[in-house]
Amino acid sequence: MNFSNSAYRPMTERWQAPEYGGSECERLAKAKRLDDQLGQIAAKHKSVSFACSFSIEDIILVERIASLGLGITIFAIDTGRLPGETLEFADHIEDHYDVSIQRIAPDSESLQKLAGLQHDDDIYLSESFRKKCCEVRKLAPLGRALAHADAWVTGMRREQSATRASIAYKEFDHARGIAKFNPLVEWSTAEVWSFARQQKIPIHPLHERGYPSIGCAPCTRAVRAHEDLRAGRWWWLSNDSKECGLHQ
Ligand code: ADX
Ligand code: SF4
Repeated sequence: MNFSNSAYRPMTERWQAPEYGGSECERLAKAKRLDDQLGQIAAKHKSVSFACSFSIEDIILVERIASLGLGITIFAIDTGRLPGETLEFADHIEDHYDVSIQRIAPDSESLQKLAGLQHDDDIYLSESFRKKCCEVRKLAPLGRALAHADAWVTGMRREQSATRASIAYKEFDHARGIAKFNPLVEWSTAEVWSFARQQKIPIHPLHERGYPSIGCAPCTRAVRAHEDLRAGRWWWLSNDSKECGLHQ
């Protein structure tokens, strides 16, 4: 599989990344600010963990964390329902940046219990089944991943959805009692893609196939041009309820 961004071939009907309209000066300023922020987060906290989903935003962060040698732990929640492309891409990213990415999976006892309560496809039938699946496959592993952290970092951005329009660079994660940082919060989609292309950052193959946002395989699909960035996530739900609970 070719992970290089030279394989980018936008198709008219599919969603495609917008072109960057800013100046080189603006781009450099944003990149410098990102490095400064990551440096400060690492310096001010004892144990920082970065939650990596392998989206384009997250690979930008992996690249900066690795290049700056910041000692931030990188982890990925392997829900057991991730697309094969994500698993393959994850291995590629570890090799490419020579980093180790912790895979945190749901524990087998909870998975067995879940299987006794609901079938995999029940997530489409009712929100309670969908939430239970996310709770076991995503939230419990997140709790374990952050058990010893005093700060965590995400790749969330305000532009991603209405539910994220007011997130801040620095937040307090009340559920875990630790700091939470969203260093790309003010980056536009065009800025993200422009930075990634310029830095020749490997891009998840599903982004190239019309998926602006990528999660578990049963809950993610490609979107059309001009649809919302998260229209393909839990597409059967309304836009205002598209949060799985990772980010309360
Ligand atoms: S989600 O909550 O709907 O899945 P989204 O895919 O937009 O979130 O990702 C937002 C941020 O959540 C990512 O930048 C990443 O920091 C974190 N995240 C999402 N999914 C995972 C995952 N499987 N493993 C680790 N972090 C994740
Ligand atoms: Fe389950 Fe879908 Fe949530 Fe993944 S996103 S944990 S498959 S409900």
